[in-house]
Amino acid sequence: MFWTGRTLCRCIRRTREPVLVGHGLCCYRYLLSGQENWLRPTDIRVSGITSLPWVGAWRGNCGHRLKRAYYLSEDFVSSFGRHLAGYSLNSCSIVSETFFVPTGKRFIHTTNMPESKPFERLPKCVVPKHYDLILKPDLKTLVFEGKETIEVEVKTVTDKIVLNSLDLTIKSVEYTTSTGNSIVPTDVSLSVEDETLTLTFPEPLHAGNGLLAFDFTGEINDKMKGFYRSKYVSPDGEERYAGVTQFEATDARRCFPCWDEPAIKATFNITLVVPESKVALSNMPVVSETKDPSNPALRVVKFDTTPIMSTYLVAVVVGEYDFVEDKSNDGVLVRVYTPVGKKEQGRFALEVATKVLPYYKDYFQIAYPLPKIDLIAIADFSAGAMENWGLVTYRETCLLVDPENTSAVRKQWIALVVGHELAHQWFGNLVTMEWWTHLWLNEGYASFVEFLCVAHLFPEYDIWTQFVTDTYIRALELDCLKNSHPIEVPVGHPSEIDEIFDDISYNKGASVIRMLHKYIGDEDFRKGMNIYLTRHQYKNTFTEDLWAALEEASNKPVAAVMSTWTKQMGFPVVKVLSKQSGPTTRTLTLTQEKFCADGSTSNGCLWMVPIMLSTSRNPHDVAFSTVLETRSANITLQNVSASDWVKVNPGTVGYYRTQYPPDMLELFVPAIQNKSLPPLDRLGLLDDLFAMVQAGQTPTVEVLKLMEAFSDEDNYTVWSSISNCLSKLSILLSHTDYEDLFKAYGRKLMARVGQRLGWDPKENESHLDTLLRSLVIGRLGWFGEKSVIEEAKKRFDHHCNGKCHLPADLRSPVYKAVLSVGDEDTYNTMLKLYREADLHEEKDRISRALGAIGNEAILKKVLDFAMSEEVRSQDTVFVIISVAMTKVGRELAWNFFKENWQELMNRYEGGFLLARLVKYTTENFASEEQATEVENFFREHHSPGTERTVQQSCETIRLNAAWLARDSESTRKYLIETQKHSS
Ligand code: BES
Ligand code: ZN
Repeated sequence: MFWTGRTLCRCIRRTREPVLVGHGLCCYRYLLSGQENWLRPTDIRVSGITSLPWVGAWRGNCGHRLKRAYYLSEDFVSSFGRHLAGYSLNSCSIVSETFFVPTGKRFIHTTNMPESKPFERLPKCVVPKHYDLILKPDLKTLVFEGKETIEVEVKTVTDKIVLNSLDLTIKSVEYTTSTGNSIVPTDVSLSVEDETLTLTFPEPLHAGNGLLAFDFTGEINDKMKGFYRSKYVSPDGEERYAGVTQFEATDARRCFPCWDEPAIKATFNITLVVPESKVALSNMPVVSETKDPSNPALRVVKFDTTPIMSTYLVAVVVGEYDFVEDKSNDGVLVRVYTPVGKKEQGRFALEVATKVLPYYKDYFQIAYPLPKIDLIAIADFSAGAMENWGLVTYRETCLLVDPENTSAVRKQWIALVVGHELAHQWFGNLVTMEWWTHLWLNEGYASFVEFLCVAHLFPEYDIWTQFVTDTYIRALELDCLKNSHPIEVPVGHPSEIDEIFDDISYNKGASVIRMLHKYIGDEDFRKGMNIYLTRHQYKNTFTEDLWAALEEASNKPVAAVMSTWTKQMGFPVVKVLSKQSGPTTRTLTLTQEKFCADGSTSNGCLWMVPIMLSTSRNPHDVAFSTVLETRSANITLQNVSASDWVKVNPGTVGYYRTQYPPDMLELFVPAIQNKSLPPLDRLGLLDDLFAMVQAGQTPTVEVLKLMEAFSDEDNYTVWSSISNCLSKLSILLSHTDYEDLFKAYGRKLMARVGQRLGWDPKENESHLDTLLRSLVIGRLGWFGEKSVIEEAKKRFDHHCNGKCHLPADLRSPVYKAVLSVGDEDTYNTMLKLYREADLHEEKDRISRALGAIGNEAILKKVLDFAMSEEVRSQDTVFVIISVAMTKVGRELAWNFFKENWQELMNRYEGGFLLARLVKYTTENFASEEQATEVENFFREHHSPGTERTVQQSCETIRLNAAWLARDSESTRKYLIETQKHSS
């Protein structure tokens, strides 16, 4: 068989993303006669060579999947050069025009590959102004019909229109000029690789306005993207589907042909043709409802015209829902849609949303521009929530509150999610990033502002303290890897875009904005935000536009400072040296260098680091502040005696780590014990030291010693941070034979706080003590504390036999404690509870606890259960992850992942759920062999959208191995010693 390049494109019906194998060489998977094949370097014979213009820049620039397969570099030449005889090779510039694809023993010769071309955005010679879109979903046959008329402007004469379309069947296309002439394209070609539709017309289209009309159909798919189905059970027990959309980042094109780029904004008139009994929602309020003349059982629902907006924010929902509603005091109609019969569960989110809208109006000094906003709980939903303008969609667990069954931590999360999505209504929807490279503007910013508004609405949550453990530390942990990436990252093809919805865009983004907020102060920050949002409303921006507005408001060098954080990967460690130069004079030398997880140093980068200092004289005040621009600087502090501590980065606001010499660290210990050091400083100090330990700068024993100073700690967030360190150590030491010694250490450390809190909530206790109780009981259970496990068993029995229901806050720790010593009966009881649970949060809690079971045979059942019909795809990954988190389950979960790889790929088709699964089923290994195994597996099983995750995981595995090799023996000795002392 002989293929030309074009034919090859069509034969390979489902190209997989190419993957980097060896430096610079991409391969791709393809389906041939229904079978997956894999093109390997050794199988490639290059027999024609031209040069590539984009060598060295394959990531981000080249979007064409097939073409990326030809990128062969110097490494390839040296390893496989023998196959290249007869051609002169320029280093790093080789591409094959002809190569052989093996099928079994035979080689198929492929030739005349199309020229390589980088990823290209849509041409702008024709742009949309307004879309008139009619969608008619059939929720029984799961197909939809679409009719669309797009008002376009032809800017320059052309005979081609290129727009996006994917998985749609185009029935007819027609262009009508402003004078009423209709022109039918002579060629309509779909490119699966580029996700585009190219219309070629028999004559040039003249500059001016015209109408582009389409008739098309599509499937209401089961992939949780585009226009998809979400399964629910009606009150009378029947399984039914709702039709729901999820378009971010690039899936509007799966629902209607469109210019699917955030900067190509237009207005939309949306019409839904739906059965009489269904609720039909879209971004705007309904303007008219009529009977469908062709079928009186159908309703034609027309929605008002939207403001000018990006395609990824368009949304529709058709299904059966109840709602609760209210008006915010600035006049916006807010509704929370819930499953039928559960509208009361929308009450909490409704209260939050009606308060958040006026809060943001006041904060930004700009009103929410639409007359209504709906928040709706969707049964099948891949992300947590999505900010569609005027119609925000949520996972049920991120919106619904059942007072009897919702935990405090969940309620708090719901407030944050509502705050986050509503922040996007301004930041993202009104002002939108120009391209996905600036995604962090959207997500980082919303992840910061959600805390501002929750701090305002729920001061009792002390949410800013929690920001540090949940957001800031998570960012630093990822960002010290060599395989991290800068906040601003060039992206092209959709699978690259999906990959950057990660902890860097969200958590580092939010953390550097918090640092900036502190640097310029709240007043100037607000002023700058108002300038930015007003200046760019209904338009698109680059990161620099935000800096310019904030610079204008604050008169500080915002752009210069911030670009060092957004354009460079990683962050610095500030090393401190201290000298007492007089009785009350202290001189500090601060030096910055890049912090690397493997302890290596690199002097290539410099940041503009806002530095603040506090001292024991006034622990809550900033004693000194500056911006460290150079590698090193001296600072002299007055009024500091030799016994005073000096803390760098008070409040843990600066996005950097601090390394103190032992004598400076020593001075903090009493201040930790008597808590005169503020909580965020106690927490920051510990976490920085822990990072030094991981990087091999300090022995593990040092952090174990420091943690002991925390046994009287009472702050929830500080405990949450300690618990984070304990859990990391616990996973690491599960690779040794002295895991039990560490568990004993953990039990001792947490004994006092456990006793103080007890099992039953005190009257009027604080929200944070409620959170702390579940955290501590959970940890003590994990450490095998007998008294806790016994009490958990007792309470669990009472819960099951109806004698006394467990409060929602205790369920997760109790389920896990009971399962950790449970048997088949316990497992079956849990399954029964799962099946009986009506609230999704409860099902979620149970299914994520199942991995705690200690028995291998039952864990295998848990894994099968995860993939069964009983668990929604959106939840499957979390059940598998729960298995991967324990010593017994680790290997099992990874093997299960490998065995079910194909099924998992089909289910998720890339996306962040898969990336999460890959991360947690791999990163806790701790040997070179395992790192190589993971690498090899993914080399042979290419999994689009997880490339960077795999690299990060393998790096982490190697770091774990090095950590063990370095510190295992001394840690063992220390744990034996402390054990002796306490017994
Ligand atoms: N815009 C995102 C939703 C999204 C995520 C779309 C990934 C496409 C891919 C939304 O604003 C968001 O950030 N949701 C978060 C919840 C939030 C509170 C952090 C999520 O889904 O995890
Ligand atoms: Zn978001």
